[in-house]
Amino acid sequence: DSLPRDLFAAIANLKQELNAVILAHYYQDPDIQDIADYIGDSLGLSRQAADTNAAVIVFAGVHFMAETAKILNPHKLVLLPDLDAGCSLADSCPPAEFAQFKAAHPGHLVISYINCTAEIKALSDIICTSSNAVSIVRQLPKDQPIIFAPDRNLGRYVMEQTGREMVLWQGSCMVHETFSEKKMVQLKVQYPTAEAIAHPECEPAVLRHASYIGSTTALLNYVQQSSSTEFIVATEPGIIHQMQKAEPAKKFIPAPPINNCACNECPHMRLNTLEKLYLCMKNRTPEITLSPDIQTAALQPIQRMLEMSL
Ligand code: 13P
Ligand code: SF4
Repeated sequence: DSLPRDLFAAIANLKQELNAVILAHYYQDPDIQDIADYIGDSLGLSRQAADTNAAVIVFAGVHFMAETAKILNPHKLVLLPDLDAGCSLADSCPPAEFAQFKAAHPGHLVISYINCTAEIKALSDIICTSSNAVSIVRQLPKDQPIIFAPDRNLGRYVMEQTGREMVLWQGSCMVHETFSEKKMVQLKVQYPTAEAIAHPECEPAVLRHASYIGSTTALLNYVQQSSSTEFIVATEPGIIHQMQKAEPAKKFIPAPPINNCACNECPHMRLNTLEKLYLCMKNRTPEITLSPDIQTAALQPIQRMLEMSL
């Protein structure tokens, strides 16, 4: 396929033609964020997907996010620019093993972080995201035993915040586990007035140094309301594009990974490009498809989440 010279204009035309909405996560390339109709965290994107009137949803994010949009809109065309845009955290929880884990803990309510496959959602009672996990757990009866999957770091953080015990699935995100505590401390010495902020998928050693912990949207809101002018940001650096736009005079320093690599960028998220976004809209493929059984079973726990986070 030959590409048009002005991809932004070509995408805008296709959007009209298809009656499409473009939803993008903060970890996408800045170009993609700039052309999106809505940029958000996982909860915001799910809400947009649930409420949209558009006929076609173009999801610039990873597979589990587009899958969630499809579960909420079984009759709509949901496009993902690159079907290989997966998630190491979702991969760390295979459905067969998880079904055994669940069977080994009878009587437990299963709360799954949205970063999981549709099969895991179908095995869950309630879905949560990093922005509502603490509040959802607080809404449950105190004596209710809980399994929390798949992210052990978010799970541990929720346990600390709520003072509740939960059985944790030992999954994690390759990006958020790459931040180095040692380098974070060195940066704090170098920038003594900078505030460190972090996503709860980071390990406890990194979270310990953060004065604020939250979802991507929460972090973006926080830098706008804080009186600090410098921030060390421990999450995927794609979010810094929006932070810098909102606060051009403030300085945002990406937290450094252990090695001198670009591995604080999510390799899955970054598989999507503006070119692939254009091509998926032009060719109306690749699209998300799901078996009807999984789709139906996965819908209920997502709806429960939306009801519990009004
Ligand atoms: P948020 O819901 O905070 O945007 O996080 C999504 C994600 O994939 C974090 O790694
Ligand atoms: Fe998955 Fe981590 Fe990438 Fe988020 S940053 S999509 S949790 S691999």
